[in-house]
Amino acid sequence: MALEAARYLIRPQEWTELPGNWPAVFGRRAPLAVEIGFGNGEFLAWAAAEHPDWDFVGFEVALTCFVKAGRRLAQAGLGNVRFARVDGRFALRELFPDGSLTRVYVHFPCPWPKARHAKRRLVNEEFARTLAAVLETGGVFELNTDVDWYAEEAARILSAGGRFSVTGPVLLTGEGPGTRYERKWRKEGRRIWRVLAERVAPAQVERIAEGDMPHARVSAEVTAEALEALPGLQESWPRGAFVIKEAFLAPDGREALLRAFATDDGFQQHYFIVVAKEPAGWIVKLDGATVPFRTPAVKRSVGAVAAALERKAS
Ligand SMILES: C[S@@+](CC[C@H](N)C(=O)[O-])C[C@H]1O[C@@H](n2cnc3c(N)ncnc32)[C@H](O)[C@@H]1O
Repeated sequence: MALEAARYLIRPQEWTELPGNWPAVFGRRAPLAVEIGFGNGEFLAWAAAEHPDWDFVGFEVALTCFVKAGRRLAQAGLGNVRFARVDGRFALRELFPDGSLTRVYVHFPCPWPKARHAKRRLVNEEFARTLAAVLETGGVFELNTDVDWYAEEAARILSAGGRFSVTGPVLLTGEGPGTRYERKWRKEGRRIWRVLAERVAPAQVERIAEGDMPHARVSAEVTAEALEALPGLQESWPRGAFVIKEAFLAPDGREALLRAFATDDGFQQHYFIVVAKEPAGWIVKLDGATVPFRTPAVKRSVGAVAAALERKAS
């Protein structure tokens, strides 16, 4: 990743305090705003320059966006922005305390028009509940989209339950957020819709990520054969699952790296688990180079590896 991007990049996966301590991240206490799916960072850079007294956090999943956005932010000399490569839906719920956000922006999300893909749409009931939890009273969610039915659907979802005062969809006749996708769709002659939802009543959400690093000890001696048998170890339950995909053994047999996959309510993570010989026995823990959020599925995978090794030895 380019140096400019590194200056703005945060890795909340590594934080041991969740939700995040944002005043510590920015070194000040200021109104906090979030953009999900910031693309090449045009809006993020514009908004951060427009509101130097606010702090902005962007979430994206596409790696190339970080290089472009980082360059843009650095060229503008902005210090009040951070960004992270995390699914914005998960990040919004897990990283921000209740009532801590002033604005949340989403510009031109993929509408996932097919019915069988509807679950992938960003604005759904779960997202609306999260917004109602993390926005402060009077805080605003802003959605801009070129898809009329998506705007209608979002307005309907946000209006339900009395948590928001919703305006729109309103046809944007003047300028919108000024992003690449706004220009692209306007060039094609598409119309742009805006939905604003001001939070009037809070909601409760269950947060599932924790700061603690899980580890488990194996009292018995661990053999290479036991380590090689771990791939395929898996469990699934109504809200999650994990699977151990591969095992890489050190030549001296005193350490193994396990490639793992876990999912919690559809939030997916790839990571590694280390099994290592210590003076007092064997330890199973998360690998420090690829730390995932410590969700129930991740924690369960660490415990299950230790239990499988213990069983094998007995
Ligand atoms: C159509 S583009 C719009 C980009 C930008 N907002 C613009 O207006 O030019 C949608 C962006 O959202 C990102 N995205 C999709 N789902 C996301 C999620 N769950 N969390 C964060 N970013 C996401 C995609 O990678 C993509 O860059």
